[in-house]
Amino acid sequence: MKKQTDLKKLEHRRKRVRSIGIRLLLLLLFFAMAYGANNRLDVTEYTYETDALSFSFDGFRIVQLSDLHNKVFLRENEQLLREIRRLQPDIIVMTGDMIDGGTHTDIPAAELLMKQAAEIAPCYYVYGNHEHLLTQEQLTPFLEHIAEYGIHYLDNENAKVESKTGQTLTVIGIDDLSLQANILQTRADEAGDDFKILLAHEPQLLHASYAPAGVDLVFSGHVHGGQFRIPFTGKGIWAPDQGFLPRMTEGSFKVKDTTMYISRGLGNSGFPLRICNHPEIVSVTLRVVK
Ligand SMILES: [Fe+2]
Repeated sequence: MKKQTDLKKLEHRRKRVRSIGIRLLLLLLFFAMAYGANNRLDVTEYTYETDALSFSFDGFRIVQLSDLHNKVFLRENEQLLREIRRLQPDIIVMTGDMIDGGTHTDIPAAELLMKQAAEIAPCYYVYGNHEHLLTQEQLTPFLEHIAEYGIHYLDNENAKVESKTGQTLTVIGIDDLSLQANILQTRADEAGDDFKILLAHEPQLLHASYAPAGVDLVFSGHVHGGQFRIPFTGKGIWAPDQGFLPRMTEGSFKVKDTTMYISRGLGNSGFPLRICNHPEIVSVTLRVVK
């Protein structure tokens, strides 16, 4: 009788150990997935064909970094910089939220990446919504530092980019708070017949604002890929300004003659976890076809 009771106890203990082991394994798997989802970089490459540029821009490559939210990739961004260098960009565009203005503001982390990126190629940068959560006391030294690194901060401004043979295209940088205003149309008109690349943090204004302004390309971010992506559907769960099951969370969209690229971004804001949604670098190579 005692032997039978001992056997039952042993079996019970084995079951408990097995159950704890399975739970630990699942927990480990979850953390490994979460770590991968937050740190494994995807590089998405596009080719954009146009007859609106001179041949001197054929092969011109634009690399986009967005929504860093202070993230530093391992060992001072080594992995991120390796990917950017491999792409051999002609320019790098930064489409806002490089600093997190919420719970984990870390301006030196944003400055670090911007300094490193500026050593690779000329950089053009616009504010997202998060930069506007900071105080002027925080922003003034930040802007001074990035100006020293050679970053072109575009505060509702145009910048001319020259090819090796002197032809130009125009980069228009619109501040996040000005997106709803008519300032984009004014800047687009000022650029005249130049090929126009718009940097604008929020993608949901493509139909209402960017396409009617007649810009050729748009780079935006803001939506973090929908934070959690539903496997095999290409859909994110939620995005600011678009709500649940948002339509524009990554990829390219075309309205009239305007093509927009959305980056899923590099970091996180309030919620610290991405699922099935790796940080992303976007790269667009221009191909001139006549
Ligand atoms: Fe963001």
